[in-house]
Amino acid sequence: MLRLSIGLLSCLVARSTAILLPFEARPRTIPLVNDTSKDASNPFRFFNVNNFTGIDIYVALLTAGGTTFEVQLDTGSADLWLDTSNMKPLGTQDTGLSAIIPYADGSIAQGPVLITNVTFGNFTVPQALISAPGSNATSNGDSGLLGLGPPSLSIIAFKLQGSSFNGASLLGNIFAANPSEPNFITFQLSRSQATGTTSGGTFTIGEVNSTFSGISSTPRLDVVSKHRWTVFMDGIIVDGKNVTGNSQFNMTGQGPTQTVALLDTGTPLGEIPKFYADAIYSGVPGAQFDPTFGVYYVPCDTKINLSFVFGGIAYPVHPIDTVQATTNTDGTVICISGFLAMTGPDPVEDMVLGNSLLRNVYSLYDFGSFTSATTPPFVQLLSTTDESTADSEFCHTLCATERIHHRKSAVKRW
Ligand SMILES: *[C@@H]1O[C@H](CO)[C@@H](O)[C@H](O)[C@H]1NC(C)=O
Ligand SMILES: *[C@@H]1O[C@H](CO)[C@@H](O)[C@H](O)[C@H]1NC(C)=O
Ligand SMILES: *[C@@H]1O[C@H](CO)[C@@H](O)[C@H](O)[C@H]1NC(C)=O
Ligand SMILES: *[C@@H]1O[C@H](CO)[C@@H](O)[C@H](O)[C@H]1NC(C)=O
Ligand SMILES: *[C@@H]1O[C@H](CO)[C@@H](O)[C@H](O)[C@H]1NC(C)=O
Ligand SMILES: *[C@@H]1O[C@H](CO)[C@@H](O)[C@H](O)[C@H]1NC(C)=O
Ligand SMILES: *[C@@H]1O[C@H](CO)[C@@H](O)[C@H](O)[C@H]1NC(C)=O
Ligand SMILES: *[C@@H]1O[C@H](CO)[C@@H](O)[C@H](O)[C@H]1NC(C)=O
Ligand SMILES: *[C@@H]1O[C@H](CO)[C@@H](O)[C@H](O)[C@H]1NC(C)=O
Repeated sequence: MLRLSIGLLSCLVARSTAILLPFEARPRTIPLVNDTSKDASNPFRFFNVNNFTGIDIYVALLTAGGTTFEVQLDTGSADLWLDTSNMKPLGTQDTGLSAIIPYADGSIAQGPVLITNVTFGNFTVPQALISAPGSNATSNGDSGLLGLGPPSLSIIAFKLQGSSFNGASLLGNIFAANPSEPNFITFQLSRSQATGTTSGGTFTIGEVNSTFSGISSTPRLDVVSKHRWTVFMDGIIVDGKNVTGNSQFNMTGQGPTQTVALLDTGTPLGEIPKFYADAIYSGVPGAQFDPTFGVYYVPCDTKINLSFVFGGIAYPVHPIDTVQATTNTDGTVICISGFLAMTGPDPVEDMVLGNSLLRNVYSLYDFGSFTSATTPPFVQLLSTTDESTADSEFCHTLCATERIHHRKSAVKRW
């Protein structure tokens, strides 16, 4: 789900008249709307879009009622909604109910709950979705959002409970219609190690990309909420120092030094307790903390050796993700923390680890008993960031400037 970062970024823009541009704004390499080509290596047409707001999102194409939509893939929610402004879907059934999904930045997706045939990759199922014409919850020219979280998080399912309509999530329906398909999904959110630009990656349903087959032997992390992809995080390692604890929870199975972390592809940066943000950034020479947005401003040549530990394994974060390069309108590069301090209470988890962490792993989300199986759901993570090459790839201020430069040339071609 799009969370506080959007508010942060737009507020930053307003406050400093800065245009925030981490990474480059990519031209669309995959044509929208009429793209029906088949690509065996990318059946979901998974790719990445960046925009002036500084929010880079990971999207895929799906077809509903004969129209193709570009939807953000979001492990932090469980509903499908589409901006149906320019379409008249054929074969659509109106449930007579409506639903609303509010986001932390004040944007919303609302409208009637419809049922229509949805095609995603090579799967087609009749699917309940929110028709939300003109929704202001899209940020990058996308036309909807596909929630991939545990089905019990679904607002549509809640609304349709007790009715004659099937309110199951898209993955719930896909797994139910394809019982031989293993009920897991995987992601690799890509980033060019050299330039920091993002460029799509890998998304699969029911299969592991053979490049990352090593994931099968990584620890299975228990999912600790019925409603979210939350796991226990053992701690972080900052420049060789272990930092642990400070959880607001004491859950069953939670070790005394563990915290509860949500893995959310719909959040561009990370949002972590101030205790952890301080541990990462407060010692950086020249760092300045802004409590309003929970952001640390840091020099762009800041190189922090940071890892997150899950299941006893340290997952290094590339320095490009630890510090986000952005730019002022005058062209000067400024840099902010890739992991923000939470600015308000979050009663559900200690931290939200978004794409600044998830770009460093291949991640597998096994639904287990969330959908058709009887086994408990779990998450597996395989590190895709090599600490030693990440270190030598990082090129300080020049690199940040270079990244911005890349972005500018891309914008011209848009
Ligand atoms: C897709 O749309 C573009 C722009 O409208 C057009 O140039 C192109 O020919 C279309 N492609 C197909 C396969 O219809
Ligand atoms: C979907 O396509 C993939 C290859 O792209 C294939 O492995 C899989 O079996 C297909 N699934 C169905 C349900 O056809
Ligand atoms: C597997 O991942 C690699 C690396 O991201 C990618 O180049 C390749 O296209 C993927 N293959 C499939 C079948 O998704
Ligand atoms: C979905 O497609 C099937 C088969 O083509 C059709 O019978 C059904 O009416 C469609 N359902 C909806 C809601 O469009
Ligand atoms: C989005 O639209 C809703 C309803 O029209 C409005 O209340 C809200 O303020 C808007 N939010 C943003 C961030 O534009
Ligand atoms: C970029 O974001 C702005 C603000 O959300 C939006 O109005 C604009 O359409 C977006 N541009 C693209 C190309 O996605
Ligand atoms: C980063 O810290 C780890 C220990 O947490 C260490 O093994 C590694 O060598 C360090 N990397 C660099 C580039 O300093
Ligand atoms: C720090 O954490 C790592 C990874 O969990 C662990 O191997 C190491 O023993 C810890 N070091 C200390 C001093 O606790
Ligand atoms: C957490 O709960 C367990 C069992 O309920 C209890 O023994 C332990 O003291 C608690 N730990 C903290 C830090 O409160």
